[in-house]
Amino acid sequence: MTRHLITSAIPYINGIKHLGNLVGSQLPADLFARFQRARRNEVLFLCATDEHGTPAELAAAKAGKPVAEYCAEMWTLQAEIAQGFRLSFDHFGRSSSDENRTLTQHFAGRLADEGLIEETVETQVYSIADGRFLPDRYIEGTCPNCGFESARGDQCDNCTKQLDPADLINPYSTISGSTELEPRETKHLHLKQSKVKDQLDNWISSKKDWPILTTSIAKKWLHDGDGLQDRGITRDLDWGVPVKRGADDWPGMEGKVFYVWFDAPIEYIACSQEWVAAGKGDDWERWWRTDKGADDVRYTQFMGKDNVPFHTLSFPATIMGSNEPWKLVDYIKSFNYLNYDGGQFSTSRGRGVFMDQALEILPSDYWRWWLLSHAPENSDSEFTWENFQASVNKDLADVLGNFVSRVTKFTRSKFSEEIPDGGKNGPEEESLIQEITTRVRAYEGYMEAMEIRKSANELRAIWVAGNEYLQTVAPWSTFKTAPEQAAAQIRLALNLIRVYAVLSAPFIPDASAELMQAMQTDNDAWPDDVAAAMTALPAGHAFAVPEVTFRKITDDEREDWQERFSGTRA
Ligand code: MF3
Ligand code: ZN
Repeated sequence: MTRHLITSAIPYINGIKHLGNLVGSQLPADLFARFQRARRNEVLFLCATDEHGTPAELAAAKAGKPVAEYCAEMWTLQAEIAQGFRLSFDHFGRSSSDENRTLTQHFAGRLADEGLIEETVETQVYSIADGRFLPDRYIEGTCPNCGFESARGDQCDNCTKQLDPADLINPYSTISGSTELEPRETKHLHLKQSKVKDQLDNWISSKKDWPILTTSIAKKWLHDGDGLQDRGITRDLDWGVPVKRGADDWPGMEGKVFYVWFDAPIEYIACSQEWVAAGKGDDWERWWRTDKGADDVRYTQFMGKDNVPFHTLSFPATIMGSNEPWKLVDYIKSFNYLNYDGGQFSTSRGRGVFMDQALEILPSDYWRWWLLSHAPENSDSEFTWENFQASVNKDLADVLGNFVSRVTKFTRSKFSEEIPDGGKNGPEEESLIQEITTRVRAYEGYMEAMEIRKSANELRAIWVAGNEYLQTVAPWSTFKTAPEQAAAQIRLALNLIRVYAVLSAPFIPDASAELMQAMQTDNDAWPDDVAAAMTALPAGHAFAVPEVTFRKITDDEREDWQERFSGTRA
């Protein structure tokens, strides 16, 4: 038995995620977690909300709520939607937890003790009226390039020029509108990542099996231009983890917080402490401390490509720099982007289908199947309503759903709602068992390797094999001349439904549960021996005809949704 620690990049708290976010981390992580559990491995699957930083402050201000209250509400909402998509986290934590505060301060203290923190003095914009330093996006003014009057301090939305707040003409605070701004000196902490550069480089070079997407991004940041930069890990904000050196105050850093990208990945560890605090587990150290047994753990992270630098460099630099025996990631599975109907999904512009909207129109299995079978692994991929309709109707309704419905309905009408006793397997049955055995072994290999599209293709081929078998042996004809043989064919096909339920559960957990229920079994043993699995349900075992496993998406619905989701979300 292997122990799998699995984390998904933790979604920002500010708003509901779109389907592109979902397929880029949480959903494939869930697929892998479910597969490993099905193989009877021990799994700890963690996710959380990423609650600090300017985006959270801004979103709360927009919602007219205190930021802590806004985050608590959004956490509940995100947790509910995650449940709606059947994301099987062992714990869904919060980066604003006490555990993460303590652990983040601990790491900062360790890094300082190891000589990896530098204190620097910088000049930043201070707003006298607001009584605070303003991050770049809290400052607006006229763009020196195009004259646009509400260009942000970091970029002009009109002409896209990258800006520095000092470039703006007539700058003002977006909090109060005040123009009483002045440059002031402020102290910050920098993590001297360059000191662990060689260690990082060796570590990444040793990961020969990592996806190219992951290692190429890491190498680029290590070697391009001036190479790995030291980075600021503190901010002049109210909302975040207060800067402390372990449990001690940090002179000169009063009123400052750690940068959100410093504390967010630490939440992966803190989340396991929250999991224990919630009474769901009793030992987090055996997952995270290599001196406490975590050497045996296989740790896999899932994320979109934009997150790769933080997970291959910054977070490992924190862990390595601490000089404590923390578990490092063993495998990073990263994803390209999913596009939406000829453009990009966009949270800020409300473009595309968002997780809550998706669940309002169809059950989660339909989305899970499409998204996973089209995961943007080797290149960006695109969601179109035509493709969605075609895939769902074909794979789920015509292939899997149809198989189940034909087999169960035929048995009920010609035999009974019990598995019939029939003759021996003939050559057709043997060859089906052969084919499914080969394909199940391939499926296991792809799932183990997190080759998601290939896994989906193999699973689909396993469903197709059942349909083709049924078409070839045609029990409805056999029945007229050789009812014994028809019974044997049907016995096999009914058993295949249970096998399908077990194999498909990581992709479509709800439908699988329905199939298990229809087959009136809780035997979810993996088909290690396919021939044996085909006799798991013996003659005389009762079953029920399931309602509808999958329905088709009509052209009217497709057009309706296409229209409804063509604009931007209010
Ligand atoms: N919130 C970030 C995003 O959505 C991901 C943070 S992952 C972590 O892009 F490692 F920082 F936790
Ligand atoms: Zn401009």
